[in-house]
Amino acid sequence: MSNRILILGACGQIGIELTARLRNMHGADNVVASDIREGSPAMMQAGPFEIIDATSKAQILDVLKKYDIKIVYLMAAMLSATAEKYPQKGWDLNMVSLLGVLDLAKDKHFDTLFWPSSMAVFGSTSPKMNTPQQTIMEPTTVYGISKVAGENWCNYFHSRYGVDVRSIRYPGIISWKTLPGGGTTDYAVDIYFEALKGNVFDCFLSENTRLPMMYMDDAINATIQIMEAASSQIKIRTSYNLSAMSFTPHEIAMEIRKYIPDFSISYKPDYRQQIADSWPTIIDDSAARKDWNWKHHFDLAKMTEDIIANLKKNTHLLV
Ligand code: SER
Repeated sequence: MSNRILILGACGQIGIELTARLRNMHGADNVVASDIREGSPAMMQAGPFEIIDATSKAQILDVLKKYDIKIVYLMAAMLSATAEKYPQKGWDLNMVSLLGVLDLAKDKHFDTLFWPSSMAVFGSTSPKMNTPQQTIMEPTTVYGISKVAGENWCNYFHSRYGVDVRSIRYPGIISWKTLPGGGTTDYAVDIYFEALKGNVFDCFLSENTRLPMMYMDDAINATIQIMEAASSQIKIRTSYNLSAMSFTPHEIAMEIRKYIPDFSISYKPDYRQQIADSWPTIIDDSAARKDWNWKHHFDLAKMTEDIIANLKKNTHLLV
């Protein structure tokens, strides 16, 4: 029986690394990568690749049939900062793509769906410290609104039609292999690149803005772990809180200075400051730890050591 996987949005920050990991685990031929545009030669040559607009149910259905797909990861999305600039486009991409795949799952065109939610579901009226799994959710961004609505659609399709959909509320994801685009937490990736290039870093958030963050390795592990869990372990069908570390721009700069002592940072908060101010500082993810044994491995110190070592070995990335 086929256990083939389709990744929608495989060329995004998380999609690239998720595709590589799943291809390693299951064999490249069993993991179909797709995006609205062509990917890097590395991704397109390593295994099957299809051009798919994630808002087109018809295009998705063709590929589900062509490869006899059983598992779908819907990673295509417009992130918080870009969606504030293009609210209607952000809503359309984030919602139309989700409703399309939920419908295809309901009609049994595949078995299991992963859909990422975000800490952006929380807003200024949610508790900021140890934000609980279940609490007030009044997001202030279009992105957050689309994620709260999406979570409720997932829960609805699970309880009404038995769709096996699983979801995580990612914090800010930090990686060195791939750059993020259009998020409020992107500074925590850019800062490493600028530090290694020997530049002063102009931070678009203020010095003491504390946000929940996670290293890419942990984010990929969590994604695979929740998808490998038995369906009975997944007690929450909206989306699970997930956390690893929380830090401020000042704290990450201090950590980088342990390796690059003359690194310097300046603060020029812009419109993204307001978005960051509406989000939690520390998230309580005890439900994920209890239900499917989630554990993180990277804190700020360990992540910084790993990123700096890797960027020093891969100077071609520092263009
Ligand atoms: N990293 C995302 C963003 O900043 C949060 O989900 O939009």
